Amino acid sequence: MVNQLSDQPLIPQMTPEHQELVKAVRNFAQKEIAPIAAEHDETGDFPITTVKQMGEMGLMGIEVSEEYGGAGMDTLAYALTMIEIAKADASHSTIVSVNNSLYCNAITKFGTEAQKQAFLVPVASGAKIGAYSLTEPMSGSDAGTMESRAVLNAAGTHYIINGRKSWVTSGPVADFVIVFTMTAPEQKHKGITAFLIDAAQPGFIRGKKEPKLGIRASATSELVFENYACPVENVLGKPGDGFKIAMAVLDAGRIGIASQAVGIAEAAYEAAVQYARERQAFGGPIGQLQMIQQKIADMKTRLEAARLLVYNACAAKERSKVTGERFTTEASMAKLFASEAAMFITDEAVQIHGGMGYSKELPVERYYRDARITRIYEGTSEVQRMVIARNELGLR
Ligand code: CAA
Repeated sequence: MVNQLSDQPLIPQMTPEHQELVKAVRNFAQKEIAPIAAEHDETGDFPITTVKQMGEMGLMGIEVSEEYGGAGMDTLAYALTMIEIAKADASHSTIVSVNNSLYCNAITKFGTEAQKQAFLVPVASGAKIGAYSLTEPMSGSDAGTMESRAVLNAAGTHYIINGRKSWVTSGPVADFVIVFTMTAPEQKHKGITAFLIDAAQPGFIRGKKEPKLGIRASATSELVFENYACPVENVLGKPGDGFKIAMAVLDAGRIGIASQAVGIAEAAYEAAVQYARERQAFGGPIGQLQMIQQKIADMKTRLEAARLLVYNACAAKERSKVTGERFTTEASMAKLFASEAAMFITDEAVQIHGGMGYSKELPVERYYRDARITRIYEGTSEVQRMVIARNELGLR
């Protein structure tokens, strides 16, 4: 697993299609999303209009083939899109990320043809919204220890699901959810199964909506299952394969969160550079002060290093489509470094802005609050370090 890409070009090339995509997404994000970001951050309202528009642009199923309602592009296209959307508003990018890399990617990879028709096509095309539900109140980082249960009925036709899931991105609005729950608790993580859940069916209850520090317009909630009857044909993969599916899908998701972190960081960095050029103190623009210059240099270096790790992870994921090799380490390195870089960069951006960085009159304080989640969700920084070290040391 050590340096899987040592004999490969690390940086994927941007094609004219990628450049066109970046232009279109940037234009849309700056024109339609950036102006409404502060208001949605304040109210916490889900931005359904712009989410639908992103669906029409093909941004809700970027890597899904056109045959299944997606845009048929690659991982780099997904990462570039995430960066541009996150630069305008992190909440929107959270919604894009979960829909694409946790929901659509899981069904693309593990779904049957019938499951793809029923659960993938409507979500990849943006008509419906998808979510991914692994975490429970007592099972976060230690994801294999969940308390929810699914029991096969006597006729063998349905699993009856009971339990409480938490921290589900898009939980309050999702039409379909991939839910991981225990079908054979005595087998620990090998007893976890993935289910495709239709939120319109009885027994599916949307629980408490989380009041959050950042990404406030991306709705997050608990989900409660009370004797929810899931047909056996809606098992994703095989019974007992759930943990591996959850982990494999998170590898792709972590590239999305790393890209999100780069986007938030880039927005904060650009705001800081502009402010350093304009703000006058001690007889000139503050950008002439060495202490500000040091910050700018460190911010820029970490931003570009994070971007390169994201591109590296994109290359690894593309390569895995051919070789079947996992890209776990590359994805975790990108997420670990980019999320910590985003925290550093947004913090320094606040500092460069001084009092104005702390004011809601500018978006810089929002970047700082939004960046914080990237070190937590889809695996904390501590979990990423655990994953990288275990892989490097051959401990699995
Ligand atoms: N791909 C495929 N299989 C994998 C894998 C991967 N990336 N990682 C592990 N596995 C397999 C292992 O090979 C092992 O297989 P065997 O049973 O055949 O040996 C099995 O899974 C168990 O692996 P581990 O022994 O490493 O499992 P662990 O219990 O020690 O846990 C962990 C490892 C890395 C800590 C994992 O639990 C983890 O990633 N935790 C964090 C969970 C997480 O990211 N949660 C966020 C949820 S989503 C969210 O935030 C909300 C949202 O809506 C966005």
